[in-house]
Amino acid sequence: MALLDVTGVSVKFGGNMALTDVSLAVESHTITGLIGPNGAGKTTLFNVITGLQDPLRGKVAMNGINLDGFAPHDRSQRGMARTFQRIELFGSLTARENLQVGAEIKRAWDGGEVRAGDRVDSAIELIGMAPFADLRADRLTTGQARLVELGRALVTRPKVLLLDEPASGLDADETEYFAKILRGLAKVGMAVLLVEHDIPLVMKTCHTIYVLDFGKVIAVGSPAEIRQNQLVIDAYLGAPAEVEA
Ligand SMILES: Nc1ncnc2c1ncn2[C@@H]1O[C@H](COP(=O)(O)OP(=O)(O)O)[C@@H](O)[C@H]1O
Ligand SMILES: [Mg+2]
Repeated sequence: MALLDVTGVSVKFGGNMALTDVSLAVESHTITGLIGPNGAGKTTLFNVITGLQDPLRGKVAMNGINLDGFAPHDRSQRGMARTFQRIELFGSLTARENLQVGAEIKRAWDGGEVRAGDRVDSAIELIGMAPFADLRADRLTTGQARLVELGRALVTRPKVLLLDEPASGLDADETEYFAKILRGLAKVGMAVLLVEHDIPLVMKTCHTIYVLDFGKVIAVGSPAEIRQNQLVIDAYLGAPAEVEA
């Protein structure tokens, strides 16, 4: 039993199967990658895991507890957090205030056991947000905004963290910095599920990688195994020379 277990999940939109019998496990202390072409079903799987999308079949469990019937906020309360593929910050609030909103909501659910300010301060420190914490969110660079998104997930002190293309729009230095933060989160025990098209980042940070294509898991393995998998090369990665960092 892993911290997060997805078992046999299928999702149908109209006549199309967006996911077919998808199973995956995300362990504590690890970064697990989820890659595949656009439209493969990655975001849909995140929506199923977080309770925004009911599956046609299959189940999601945390610590062996079946989350069937748990609303998104129930899952958040149990230690699940996510970021969105499109940055969704409150533009007229500062970076710090965006984190405060997340922390206050969490505190209300928890009955106020941890001060929201403490959660915000420690997240700001953890991800190095201090230099831009008091700027309006709509004035931030994409790299800064992506960090604020991550910070907003972290103020809930998640056990399972789902990241939907968090490095999209980042330059090489920002991506490197992001990788360092992700490794730090895994080190302190978090289970991270990373959807990302930046293949060098995925190969460098992930312990295990799942590959989705047309809603099906076509491969699971270590970065080295995935890089050499012919199905994955044909469906997504292209020839090995193209994926070298
Ligand atoms: N709400 C929806 N209604 C109908 N079809 C959808 C919906 N969300 C996603 N899809 C379809 O499901 C498939 C998987 O999409 P998505 O999960 O966004 O893929 P990915 O994140 O891997 O790019 C795509 O064919 C997409 O068009
Ligand atoms: Mg997506």
